[in-house]
Amino acid sequence: MRVCVSACLLGEPVRYDGGAKPTGEVMELASKTEAFRVCPERAAGLPCPRPPAERVGGRVLLATGEDVTGAFARGAESCAASVARFGATLAVLKAKSPSCGVGLVYDGTYSGRLVPGRGVFADRLAREGICMVTEDTVRACKPSVEHPVAIVLGSGLGHLGTLVRPVRRIDYQDIDGFPATARPVPGHRFEATVGTIDGVPVVVYPGRIHLYQGYSAAEVTSLVRHAHHLGCRDIVFACATGAVPGQAHVGLGILTDQINLTGRNPLAEWDGLRDVDSPFVDMNDAYSPYLRTIARGVADDLGIAVEEGVYAGVLGPCFETPAEVAALRALGVSYVGMSTVLEVIMARALGMSVLGLTLAANESGAPSVSHDSVLATAGEYAEDFERLVRGVLRLL
Ligand code: HPA
Repeated sequence: MRVCVSACLLGEPVRYDGGAKPTGEVMELASKTEAFRVCPERAAGLPCPRPPAERVGGRVLLATGEDVTGAFARGAESCAASVARFGATLAVLKAKSPSCGVGLVYDGTYSGRLVPGRGVFADRLAREGICMVTEDTVRACKPSVEHPVAIVLGSGLGHLGTLVRPVRRIDYQDIDGFPATARPVPGHRFEATVGTIDGVPVVVYPGRIHLYQGYSAAEVTSLVRHAHHLGCRDIVFACATGAVPGQAHVGLGILTDQINLTGRNPLAEWDGLRDVDSPFVDMNDAYSPYLRTIARGVADDLGIAVEEGVYAGVLGPCFETPAEVAALRALGVSYVGMSTVLEVIMARALGMSVLGLTLAANESGAPSVSHDSVLATAGEYAEDFERLVRGVLRLL
């Protein structure tokens, strides 16, 4: 996977004050990928050290008042062209910088105050369709013993749980809010495993409960609240789905967005609201663009066929009628399933970063789909699914 990285984050002394901002998590990511270092200000030939620059209106001014708008634009243009030639799909850019800032930049008063916006280079790079994040995102998604990656596995995907080197097991019955009556299908255990996969700290939940079994939205999302309590900041949801014909094929998929067609919401129930600051949750980028880009990069590097698309969550448990399949297609849905959407809402309400992976086990609306046929198809893709998840964990 090819990643563009601000040179100062890799320890190069290219900042305006002659310093660097070496960031361990970014250096680690760069060491595990093909990294291309950029500094648009160096590319522009600006002196270093020099007074700080900030964006003021449409211009970039040094603290001395000198107008460096043209130099910043030239540096941005030449670096963006190099990045496009290099073929990066991800850019990790220095936060707040007037060149590289993503989301927030200095406000033009040279006082350290920030305003929503992007640096000149980030503005230019956005046109290349590259996922842009700051070092803060890479750091926030970095797993540790204090912040393991939560992995919730759906129908037929539970085998991944056997890869965990266990440290502790937690019976779902001991999880706050998990219904006391819930039992797994025969041959399965409702038991979370805390441990590591290839050395990466994880908590794996090898099965879930569903609305269609009569549980409430708060109950089906109790595992997510539990993961958050354990300190998990990243959460991977894996689910079996139907592929909407004309939109996606049977096989693996990365979820890009969702439509909640269940008519339920954990944030509309008292037990779902308990740990949440506000129920009015921003659902833009609910599936982390950073994690999606990593997953895409891993799939391409490993030669695993993976599509991408929007997930529609339905109540179930019956499969879709032809009219429903047509409606889902018209809505731009690629994958339809009976889980995940409420869990994603809960995870976002708790500020967690979400990766959604699916195994489309059948075509939505196909005759003679059964739970057993879903499991059989899941088995066929289990190895690729495991390689994909392990590859993502390695890069985090
Ligand atoms: N529809 C809904 N959920 C599913 C399907 C489907 O076709 N296959 C597996 N889960």
